[in-house]
Amino acid sequence: MSLTSKSSNMGILEIITSILLLNVLFLISFTLANSNTYIIHMDSSAMPKAFSTHHSWYSSLLSSVSETTSETEDDSSSLATCKHLYTYTNTINGFSAILTLSELESLKNSFGYISHTRDASLKLHTTHTSQFLGLTSVSGAWTAPNQGEDVIIGLLDTGIWPESESFSDEGMTKVPQRWKGICQFNSFLCNNKLIGARFYNKGLIADNPGVKIPFLNSPRDSNGHGTHTSSTAAGNYVKNASYFGYALGTAKGMAPRARIAMYKVSYKYGTYASDVIAAMDQAIADGVDILSVSLGYDADERLLEEDPIAIAGFRAMEKGVPVVASAGNDGTIYYRLLNGAPWLLTVAAGTLDRQFYGVLTLGDGVEINFQTLYPGKYSLNQMPLVYNEKCDNETELRKLMKNKIIVCKDNFSLSDQYKIAESAKVSAAVFIFNDSSWSEFSTRYYSRSSFPAAFLSIQDGGDTLINYIKKNSDPRGSFQFQKTTKLGTKPAPHVADYSSRGPYLRCPSILKPDIMAPGTQVLASWSPIGEVTTIRSRSVYSNFNFNSGTSMATPHVAGVAALIKKAHPDWSPAAIRSAIMTTASVLDNTNSPIKDPSMPGIPAASPLDMGTGHISPIKALDPGLVYDATTQDYIKVPCAMNYTSRQIRIFTNSSYSCKSRSLDLNYPSFIAFFPDDQNNSTSNQTVVHVFQRTVTNVAKGGMAYTAKVTGMDGIKVKVEPQKLIFKQIYEKQSYKLSLEGPKSLKKDIIFGYLSWVDDGGKYLVRSPIVATNMMP
Ligand SMILES: *[C@@H]1O[C@H](CO)[C@@H](O)[C@H](O)[C@H]1NC(C)=O
Ligand SMILES: *[C@@H]1O[C@H](CO)[C@@H](O)[C@H](O)[C@H]1NC(C)=O
Ligand SMILES: *[C@@H]1O[C@H](CO)[C@@H](O)[C@H](O)[C@H]1NC(C)=O
Ligand SMILES: *[C@@H]1O[C@H](CO)[C@@H](O)[C@H](O)[C@H]1NC(C)=O
Ligand SMILES: *[C@@H]1O[C@H](CO)[C@@H](O)[C@H](O)[C@H]1NC(C)=O
Ligand SMILES: *[C@@H]1O[C@H](CO)[C@@H](O)[C@H](O)[C@H]1NC(C)=O
Ligand SMILES: *[C@@H]1O[C@H](CO)[C@@H](O)[C@H](O)[C@H]1NC(C)=O
Ligand SMILES: *[C@@H]1O[C@H](CO)[C@@H](O)[C@H](O)[C@H]1NC(C)=O
Ligand SMILES: *[C@@H]1O[C@H](CO)[C@@H](O)[C@H](O)[C@H]1NC(C)=O
Repeated sequence: MSLTSKSSNMGILEIITSILLLNVLFLISFTLANSNTYIIHMDSSAMPKAFSTHHSWYSSLLSSVSETTSETEDDSSSLATCKHLYTYTNTINGFSAILTLSELESLKNSFGYISHTRDASLKLHTTHTSQFLGLTSVSGAWTAPNQGEDVIIGLLDTGIWPESESFSDEGMTKVPQRWKGICQFNSFLCNNKLIGARFYNKGLIADNPGVKIPFLNSPRDSNGHGTHTSSTAAGNYVKNASYFGYALGTAKGMAPRARIAMYKVSYKYGTYASDVIAAMDQAIADGVDILSVSLGYDADERLLEEDPIAIAGFRAMEKGVPVVASAGNDGTIYYRLLNGAPWLLTVAAGTLDRQFYGVLTLGDGVEINFQTLYPGKYSLNQMPLVYNEKCDNETELRKLMKNKIIVCKDNFSLSDQYKIAESAKVSAAVFIFNDSSWSEFSTRYYSRSSFPAAFLSIQDGGDTLINYIKKNSDPRGSFQFQKTTKLGTKPAPHVADYSSRGPYLRCPSILKPDIMAPGTQVLASWSPIGEVTTIRSRSVYSNFNFNSGTSMATPHVAGVAALIKKAHPDWSPAAIRSAIMTTASVLDNTNSPIKDPSMPGIPAASPLDMGTGHISPIKALDPGLVYDATTQDYIKVPCAMNYTSRQIRIFTNSSYSCKSRSLDLNYPSFIAFFPDDQNNSTSNQTVVHVFQRTVTNVAKGGMAYTAKVTGMDGIKVKVEPQKLIFKQIYEKQSYKLSLEGPKSLKKDIIFGYLSWVDDGGKYLVRSPIVATNMMP
């Protein structure tokens, strides 16, 4: 989990070291055991009549290939059983087991065998919290007409802290009869809010034999991540919530009356595909209505069938369960996005409109504000300010007397200077840097400083401070923390730099991500045994924490999906996703296009950064039109990607075959590839991409819509027909969109929007369009 803070300077060495360590661990366990965990896909219809369940069939197969010689039949079957980790029936047909290579070879010859994959690890999509300040609160900028009553949100995560106030069931009705889940805590820890809690660790233990970690065999969350995502999606009202006084207010989830079921799959030692598939398998059987998944499979693999969330997510979709999943934290390079399978709802992260400040008051009364989340209570009064051009020598810093504020300015690594000051145990420090574009970065990484510190750019107070020190013989300053929360900071939101960008390499023909939601500095409940930060090397704990990542954006969207599910119980996952996408906002709070600060000078973030835009929960409840899609529609996509029937059967089951093939899914967005054919740059030839779409009227009564296209400079866009007339609710109408562009496109990205606007002006159904020369 700590491995996800890719863009940080501080801790790069630690990251590399821990990656190496992990590799070493893997090598050792694989060499010693000489066997691995495999996920085996089977043709479930090939089960011989002699078996009554798939589980007994698979167990029997395992004992027949087992190489362990044993005295009696009983021994052999018990050995086989302990190698048999899980049987899967709802997400894939098959099982996972620990096998040697030759056992695997024998298994391949078994009747019904389709394919196998080695168990793989996944990553949580959060950044390391002690370095990364998170974003916004779950608190109520939005008031929806319903609160997601009775909708069950299942989360795959690090577990949950059941005693957290966010999971109180005050105001909740009785658990519905249809719920089949269980509580693997003492049952009194579950209630009408937290209605299920299970843990999955067999894949983890198979790869780490003898592993000893707290709460290994419990759904309890020792990290905090799962408690955070759960309370963000559906936490109950908690008054007077704050992080050491920052962001004080009433915390609540997006759907405060929805119910929560936790499926713990992530541990300190990792997250395993075999466990994730088992958890999704059970969640579907238990009867969850929505799945929220803030983790991903980021191996450099092009095939969808290798990705456990893609394959298990297909069957969830088929059963009517929307799977909301994080895009990953690998921004800002294109094609790094994860969880982009066409049947998932893929979530990018943006910022919120609030920041937290401390104040440095100079001897002359001038106040300099700086962003911080330092939890220390104290104010430091009128301490001498000592200016150092460079804070690069620990010995020198140690010589300075205590009770001084050291001011460091240089252009060498801020993180190195910070570390030197930290180990020199200075009382307090100000770090000045000369690049205002770094301020977001520095704030994010250093607002969790372990001693009283401010990070200032030259432009935002650094200059003032240096001039004051230079002009005074006895310069002094006072630090105060937990000072102010600025709301409505502008512009907001913008795309978070860490949020992974599309297209999705494993299926580039569907535009991803789908939607952007708040992901930076989200305040939500936390595990009281999960460290939130350190003060001088002492661990600090809190019931609430800020956290950042697409992990945090995802449960916001899952919560909104619960609100829609409550309002429209019969809508398919595609319809719910469509409602969320087509109602999103493309403007920030200054009424200009939402920006991507990692692309300075570019006037608007592209749909490859943020999908259709920033989520608008209230509008999503009443979208006017939806783009629906069925299982049959989805399967045409891998068919058109020339997946073999063997590969197709991994997603579906043996009864499916590729009767028709099309990459042109009925999706609320468009992407067309115009390769840059460098040798024919002067050619005037054009190419045309045509898309076919069908929209369903979900507004009451008759409606007339007119097409409006914005952007797309350099591409000829044609919509036929230009008008769509609906006489009644649930009526469908089709249209054709064609994009005519140069055979050789010289710009990386051209984008715009197609909006269907109803004559009454009530609905605007917006779809992003991307033309790109960036080939997969
Ligand atoms: C709110 O929380 C703060 C800090 O945790 C505490 O000092 C204060 O008494 C609380 N106020 C109420 C009304 O509970
Ligand atoms: C740090 O300063 C001390 C003198 O105070 C000096 O002896 C030492 O070499 C310096 N270290 C470095 C790395 O420059
Ligand atoms: C620091 O500034 C100097 C002079 O402006 C420059 O030559 C040097 O490359 C800079 N170093 C870094 C690490 O940016
Ligand atoms: C900040 O950087 C700019 C450009 O590199 C330079 O012109 C300017 O002098 C620097 N300012 C300070 C105070 O170092
Ligand atoms: C699939 O195969 C067809 C026929 O061989 C080919 O035209 C098409 O380009 C292939 N599609 C992909 C995505 O590879
Ligand atoms: C395969 O899928 C079809 C269509 O959804 C379904 O009717 C059938 O029961 C499934 N078979 C198995 C073995 O799951
Ligand atoms: C352009 O043409 C040259 C020589 O004809 C060839 O070597 C090169 O690969 C071509 N480049 C592209 C992008 O097609
Ligand atoms: C340039 O375009 C023409 C016409 O489409 C085509 O025949 C020719 O092969 C292309 N040349 C290269 C080098 O791609
Ligand atoms: C391309 O079009 C321009 C203007 O339409 C024309 O002047 C030029 O001759 C054309 N070039 C080719 C290679 O057809």
